[in-house]
Amino acid sequence: MEQEQLEKFRAWFDDYVAGFYGNDEFINANLKLKEEHTRRTCDQMLHLAKELGLSGNQKRIAEVIALFHDIGRFEQFVRYRTYVDSRSVNHCLLGLEVLHQTKVLGDVPEPQRQLIEKAIEYHGLRELPRDLNGQCLLFSKLIRDADKIDVLYVVTDYYRQYADNPEGFKLELELPDEPGYSAKVVEGLLRGRRIDYSELRTLTDMKLCQLGWVYDVNFTATLRHIRNRKLLEALVDFLPGTEDIERVKEKIFEYVDFRIKQQRCKN
Ligand SMILES: [Fe+2]
Repeated sequence: MEQEQLEKFRAWFDDYVAGFYGNDEFINANLKLKEEHTRRTCDQMLHLAKELGLSGNQKRIAEVIALFHDIGRFEQFVRYRTYVDSRSVNHCLLGLEVLHQTKVLGDVPEPQRQLIEKAIEYHGLRELPRDLNGQCLLFSKLIRDADKIDVLYVVTDYYRQYADNPEGFKLELELPDEPGYSAKVVEGLLRGRRIDYSELRTLTDMKLCQLGWVYDVNFTATLRHIRNRKLLEALVDFLPGTEDIERVKEKIFEYVDFRIKQQRCKN
């Protein structure tokens, strides 16, 4: 892929997204969240691609994947006023529909287009299909990691805004902000298990689940980034200080540090 083509896609994204803003403040605030998320995910993607020593062509493909990974989010929110897929539509598949209908990737050679589309399709899955390999596996892993780094950043900012001013909060909270959390979620995290969205009942469950994303991180470079930016520390600030949650925190930090140390030993 040429640099020129990538620049064309960046301009297309700006135009496409601009078309969704209107007079509804709730919709605008939520659209902005995803627009900014996309831009930062592109930066994260490039950072990871560089750390992993990818070629110029691979870096450009990686950036297109990041740019379009949530392209379905804009239509999703305007149509359904939610980002919760289970209450609306699978935003990854909607994104592919948008790409097909607009033919924006029309000039991209078939093998590269396949890589881009598969990585977008798979980025929201609980787990990647087991039969992936080669470049498809590489790009699918990359977008999942880049996306997670930024979502961690977004949600902590989101929880801070909500804590500061619950009444003035204009974004969508996906779960009820009730006291308490699920024992099953805590137990799963202590066992090193990823938590499924279907297991979540309260906002604290959601925060715990987000903490557990580290179990699903593919590259140590991602964990180092999460550690250096103190993203986990920022998130645990919003969790209650009960004994079992303290154990979860300890377990998560130990896990991250272990993987970072393991990588250092390998090098
Ligand atoms: Fe997404």
